[in-house]
This record gives sequence, structure tokens and C-alpha cells, in this order.
Amino acid sequence: MHTPEASPAHIAEAAYDRRRLRQWLAGQARAEGVSRRTMLRLLAAAGAAGTVPTTLAPAAAAATTATATATATGTGTGTGTGIVKPLPEAWFTVRGTNAETRFAALAETGHHTPNERFFVRNHTATPVLDAADWTLTVWGDGLTHGGSVEFTLPDLKRLPAVTRTAFVECAGNGRSLFTTQQGQTVSGTAWTLGAIGTARWRGTRLADVLRLAGLGPAAVDVLPRGLDADYVTADGTDLGRVRRPLPLAKALDDVLLAYEMNGEPLPPDHGHPVRVLVPSWIGIASVKWVGDIQVSAQPLYSPWNTDFYRLFGDAYPEGGSAPLTRQTIKSAWELDWNAQLTPETEHRLTGRSWSGAAGVVRVDVSTDGGTNWRPAQLHDTPRRGDWTRWSARWRPPAPGAYTLLARATDRAGRTQPGSTVHNTQGYLFDAVVRHPVTVA
Ligand code: MTE
Repeated sequence: MHTPEASPAHIAEAAYDRRRLRQWLAGQARAEGVSRRTMLRLLAAAGAAGTVPTTLAPAAAAATTATATATATGTGTGTGTGIVKPLPEAWFTVRGTNAETRFAALAETGHHTPNERFFVRNHTATPVLDAADWTLTVWGDGLTHGGSVEFTLPDLKRLPAVTRTAFVECAGNGRSLFTTQQGQTVSGTAWTLGAIGTARWRGTRLADVLRLAGLGPAAVDVLPRGLDADYVTADGTDLGRVRRPLPLAKALDDVLLAYEMNGEPLPPDHGHPVRVLVPSWIGIASVKWVGDIQVSAQPLYSPWNTDFYRLFGDAYPEGGSAPLTRQTIKSAWELDWNAQLTPETEHRLTGRSWSGAAGVVRVDVSTDGGTNWRPAQLHDTPRRGDWTRWSARWRPPAPGAYTLLARATDRAGRTQPGSTVHNTQGYLFDAVVRHPVTVA
């Protein structure tokens, strides 16, 4: 059975994780806001249990707090969600501080998700920042001078601009299907399949900014941090600002500091004025409202790569998997759950499929609960980090309840499985979804 850990990227990430955990043990890694218990659990899971001494070297000094001139000032409009843009019911399902896009609302849209319909995942509330006051501070001992360098938005815009289409998808997208389709208990926001959107992003290469800031040969990790408020968990623990380390190799590869989304300045809810965009990786890597980036000569930890965004559960080591990186593979019909269709009429049913590993090159559909399958027609050139639209014609033979299925295969050879191995936080659901419709 497919497990998310089995891909080469995850094997590489697991080795990286073991190395950085050993460094933490030797007092060379920084773990701000991460408990010793968490670190011990991860160390045990990484196979280092035998080497854990009874007294541990303390984690290295608390990280410097970088100054950012922009501050989080606003909360949302009257919606009570902390989200600024309107959230019409026809487009969104509100889930606490988050808004999920209705897949049916994408049927009317083109390849790119209009900014107004793009899902929002906020740990707290959208801060309303003024681009004119905003600066990005790049700092840390991974820079040759060990100091800090500030960039304004005009500074970034003077650098070569890159435009690329990429999806942003929450690691927990599809989470509710662990329960509704597999009967399993998971924690977290009960997304269906709409915690994804695809946009045309324009911005500066993070690699260019890091090099200008004086990237040194000792740098190993890069930690972007948001300017939104501290995230306080349900039990009252303040985890600080949203931040998640990226290995330098990824940071130098295809990561953007994006300031435009679909040809417009980044909207407030999506990171105005600048967000990190990490193509193909889980959404948490794409830090919004970035205010500073630490460049470190030691491996870094935050709760977002220790307690969250790893796989925990019976199928995984006690301390969890390595930190999650690439997204998994999924498909969704552009139909409401229990959508009504007329019998004996030919319908053109549409949907989208995507994968974090490679472009989706094939989609098979079934309109009889999985007994018979046929290929859907694809409407996009498959590209990595992007989705592929598809359609299938169907004439329902008679009134009744039907189950539609769509199963994607990507260029890397991954195909959606029949079920997803359970993990307690409900990440990376990749199984073929059983979508009910009523013909009446
Ligand atoms: N960045 C900051 N600063 N604060 C956040 O709450 N949420 C992350 C990521 N970046 C988050 C953040 C998560 S979990 C996801 S899935 C994406 O942003 C969502 O991006 P979107 O709201 O633009 O769709």
C-alpha cells in the first residue's frame, strides 16, 4: 500500500531529519517554542533512542527576535472569522478562522482560482498591513556577516521577477474523509476537498534575496516568519508567530517571495504585501505576511515541523514521520455533495486532479461506485505543482443514488489508492473519494 513516507523526497527528508535531530542532541540546533518532551519523542522515533543520555545538552540559545517595522493591526470585517474578504455561501464554507472553497464554485472558473474564491487558512486573523511600511529582515548566522539586511517592497520589485502557476493546498485538505469514508477519528479542521486553490504568482526568487543578503556556506535552514498574531492553542499555549523551517536546498530551488496573485497585488487574506510560495509542498510552508527570514547555520525547529505537519499514528514511528514536505495526490468533482442530476440526460461532469510529485497525466472515472472505469478527458497540459482539469460525459440511466469516483495518476507513477493509511491529525488524504449524487 502507498504510504506518504515511501517517496524519495520523504526518504531524503527523513535522513535530513535524523541528522538535524542528532545536531539538536549535541546542542547545535535551535528549537524555539518546542518542548523537550517533543524533541525526545522525535529523537526516539528517528532511531536515536539508544544514544539519548539521561541529561541532555540544552537547546541552543533562544533565537534573536528580528525587528519588523510592519505590525499586525487589523482583524477581519464583520464576518467574525478574522478574514477580510466577503465569504458568500455560494463559494465558501466557513470553518472557524478558515474558509473552504466549494468545489462546485470552481466549475465556472478557468484554470486559475479567482482571488475572491480562493480558500483561506488562517491560524489567527488576517493582519491588514501597509505595503509602504513593510520591510523584510533577513538575518542569522547563516549569512556571511552574521547581521541583518532589510528589503522594502520596491527593493524586491527591482530584482528579476518570476511568474509561475502553482497550487497552495493545506496538508489537512480532505481530512473529513478519514471520518466520513474510513470511519476514523482525526483532529483538526474538517475540510472536505476545497482547501486548495491555484493562482498565477509573481514575485522574486527567494534564492536571489538570500544571495543578496549574504548567504554563507554554513547555512542549512531558512525560517520565514509571519507578521500575523501569535498562535495560541486551545489549551492556552502561546506558540509564537507562524513559522516553519525550510531546508536550504528547497529554499534555493523554486521558492518565490510573491507579491502578486493572478495579476493583482496580493490580497490581505493571502499575505499582503508579500508571502512565501513553496510550490508542491504543503500549504504551511507558504508563510503569508512574511516579516523576517532567519538564515541559520544550525538546523531549526518550530512547533510547525515537530508537533504539527508530521504523521503520527499506529502506522508511524512513535515520534511521528519526518516533517511533511510535498503534497500528495487528489481529485475532486466540481459538484456539491449530493448534487441533483436529471436522469436520461447527458451531463458533462467536470473536476480537477493534482499531485505534489508531478503533473497529473491520467484520470479514470467511475459513475457506478467503482465497478466500471473509463478515462476522463484532460483539458490542461500536466505540470508539476499545478492541477489538471478534466471532464467526463454521463447519461444517468435511471433515478436513484449514485457514487462518482475519480482516480488520478501522475507522471511520477503515483495513483490514488482505495484508502489512506490513518494518521491522527488527518494529513495527506489521498484515497479515491466516493462522491454521492442523486439522480431525480
Ligand atoms: N502564514 C501565516 N503567517 N499564518 C498562517 O496562518 N497558514 C498556512 C499558510 N501560511 C498561515 C500561513 C497554511 S496552514 C496554509 S494551508 C496556507 O497559508 C493557506 O494559504 P491561503 O490562506 O492563501 O489559501
